[in-house]
Amino acid sequence: MSKAIIISNRLPIKIVTKKNKNTLHHSEGGLATGLESVFKKSNDNIWVGWPGMVVKDTDAQLDIENQLAEMHLKPIFLSKKQVDGFYLGFSNATLWPIFHYATNYARYNDADWKIYQEVNEKFAEVIIPLVEDGDTIWIHDYHLLLLPRLIKEKCKNVSIGFFQHIPFPSFEIFRLIPWRKQLLDGMLGADLLGFHTIDDVNHFIDSASRLLDTTINSNVIFYKGEISSVDAFPMGIDFEKFNSKLPKLQATQKDVANLKRQFGDTKIVLSIDRLDYSKGILPRIHAFEQFLQKHSEYKGKVTLFMIVVPSRDSIYRYKELKDEIDKVVGDINARFRTLDWRPIEYFYQSFPVEYLSALYQMSDICLVTPMRDGMNLVCKEYVASRNEEDGVLILSEMAGSSRELGDALIVNPNDIGQIEEAIVAAIKMSPKEQQIRMVKMRQIIEKFNIVHWVKIFMEKLREVKKLQTSFK
Ligand code: UDP
Ligand code: G6P
Repeated sequence: MSKAIIISNRLPIKIVTKKNKNTLHHSEGGLATGLESVFKKSNDNIWVGWPGMVVKDTDAQLDIENQLAEMHLKPIFLSKKQVDGFYLGFSNATLWPIFHYATNYARYNDADWKIYQEVNEKFAEVIIPLVEDGDTIWIHDYHLLLLPRLIKEKCKNVSIGFFQHIPFPSFEIFRLIPWRKQLLDGMLGADLLGFHTIDDVNHFIDSASRLLDTTINSNVIFYKGEISSVDAFPMGIDFEKFNSKLPKLQATQKDVANLKRQFGDTKIVLSIDRLDYSKGILPRIHAFEQFLQKHSEYKGKVTLFMIVVPSRDSIYRYKELKDEIDKVVGDINARFRTLDWRPIEYFYQSFPVEYLSALYQMSDICLVTPMRDGMNLVCKEYVASRNEEDGVLILSEMAGSSRELGDALIVNPNDIGQIEEAIVAAIKMSPKEQQIRMVKMRQIIEKFNIVHWVKIFMEKLREVKKLQTSFK
């Protein structure tokens, strides 16, 4: 029977070593949290990826391999040099900033590029022996842009899908990358390429048409005698998990009760992101600062509950951001606090999903203001958790999710005054208006959920395979 092989750099489970003992934890980040729930639904699938740490000892590797095999996960172990050059280097210090329009943060290093190629080849070497005729291979994200072609060269009778979870930038930005042609050539090994938004699709097609010898007809690209299709598939979430399953758990209910006790009538403005300059965390804090400055009537009555999940903090730009957040939050809390109220409750750590659910349920406002974000699942999780149909979402127009969630208060993340005004508008919004907006957003999140996302991607992939046959 044919199976699906899911491939991403990060597995949904990561290994953490504490006191010489390896423990398994859920990975953070939209790719892992979003895909994990559909992956669990089928027993035949395999998920191949990196378990998130360097494991040198081969016995320990075998041990981890056996543990993960029970969950149908296949680890790919990377050396320290590979993690530095491939993950921290080319993926997150070249592609990530470029794809998020942070061009000044990008570095172009030939040694990193070589290691990026080497690790993509390493993934191919592990995957190719697992592939059988008729299988579907679904490759995810910017770490593995060369992999579709590497697999296509070796495996003929398969369907290859590729999905990019981050934005695809406009040609003028993408062209800055010295290895731009090789990257596009690698991606076009896929039969179907998916992005979150139509803009990403158009940007990709534009780059492919300008940089490679392609013929393009609408969303179909003819290249090297082969056909690939490109389309937008906005990723959804597991609606029922946040709407009903998590709220029913005892652990979640205990967290809700504790939060109620802790905050009483104080309004909670929620902010949850990985540490990342693309998330607009600093401008968001400054908007809240401006709100405190201009509206002393809310002193003691509104709290920004801010979670920053540690991420990639050995990259200079991330470390620098962390230091700056610590400084600004400390400064604001020192200036505005009272004896029994802190304006910003700041946590630099990750939390279990039950606690996130409690926070989503307890927060009056969710403030999501990325400078650029492929989709942003946090805002969708907030909406799905609001089963009493109240609460206000403030959302950046630069997040892919803003295309679907037009009933949020949409803001430009660079406009601190606009964010500050949106916070005031959210606090003052009538219960009726909250409900009208929330109901519409919930309908969208419920309908276009994660199962629907996988379904339409797979249907389209089958269509493309048919189209290819009709051209032979
Ligand atoms: N998340 C988590 N633990 C935390 C905070 C967040 O697992 O302590 C999850 C959150 O539930 C969401 C994901 O991390 O599913 C973040 O996805 P998003 O698309 O918003 O941003 P990304 O991190 O992928 O850029
Ligand atoms: C984004 C990317 C994912 C990545 C996640 C967490 O969602 O699209 O590919 O896994 O961030 O980042 P990390 O570097 O910890 O894997």
